[in-house]
Amino acid sequence: MNRKLWCAIVTVAFVCLISMSSFASGGHGQKNPEKVGILLVAFGSSEPSAQVSFQNIEQRVKDKYPNIPLRWAYTSHIIRTKLAKQGQELDSPEVALAKMQDEKFTHVAVQSLHTIGGEEYHDLRRTVGSFKMLGSFERIVLGYPLLATQQDMQRTVSAVLETIPKERKKSEAVVLMGHGTHHPANAFYAALMFQLQLKDPNIFVGTVEGYPEVDLIKDMLLKKKIKKAYLMPFMSVAGDHAKNDMAGDDDDSWKSVLTKAGIQCIPILKGTAEYEPFVDIWVDHLGGPLSHF
Ligand code: CO
Repeated sequence: MNRKLWCAIVTVAFVCLISMSSFASGGHGQKNPEKVGILLVAFGSSEPSAQVSFQNIEQRVKDKYPNIPLRWAYTSHIIRTKLAKQGQELDSPEVALAKMQDEKFTHVAVQSLHTIGGEEYHDLRRTVGSFKMLGSFERIVLGYPLLATQQDMQRTVSAVLETIPKERKKSEAVVLMGHGTHHPANAFYAALMFQLQLKDPNIFVGTVEGYPEVDLIKDMLLKKKIKKAYLMPFMSVAGDHAKNDMAGDDDDSWKSVLTKAGIQCIPILKGTAEYEPFVDIWVDHLGGPLSHF
């Protein structure tokens, strides 16, 4: 046997051996079959009333993408700890994505269910970025929160106008309670109020933990001599903030502050994710990442 032929036989045998071993292990060099998944990421809530919002979003996503497996993660560590004590295990985005990697997902659409691109959203962005950098998936893409682009702003204005109570008269106020944050994205709340007021001058947007504060909203209402206000959470769920900070009986709740100023308050305990026009915006944002696959 000549040397060239011998070399060729050895090479072929070697290549066969390598490909056989990688086939057996299902590992190196072998491409996993395509498996697409969705990860919905919310701040989270430990209030049972908040589950309505999450179930509503989940149903809408399942209706639109019936064949794509769906997972959940909560960004709030406090909420996850609280739920764990009640025997309910909720994953952080990091753990959820690690599990999806383990389950051999190749393409993951991560959808933020946050309202603005604040701290929680940016933390999530970093997490998604690290999974991307590690090459854990062939594709991993993150969808925007509710309010990101100018188009989202316009759609949100329409969604608010569609969901305010029908019995409300134009002379009565609608006061939305946003969460608020020290993050620069807090400016979205005042921007939303400006654009809402172009359509309906008696709609106001305040926040619990940022700007505009309730005292400012109160002064604006008094200046306009408003006598009655509908209070609505501008958060995906009607959780702790809506129940206590907005509609609670404590002296510093929005209801108490405004009532003391002579304004009759009607609190509405429904999160934005309970209304279709808002959910449509989040679900359309999920369509963005999925269309990249
Ligand atoms: Co909070």
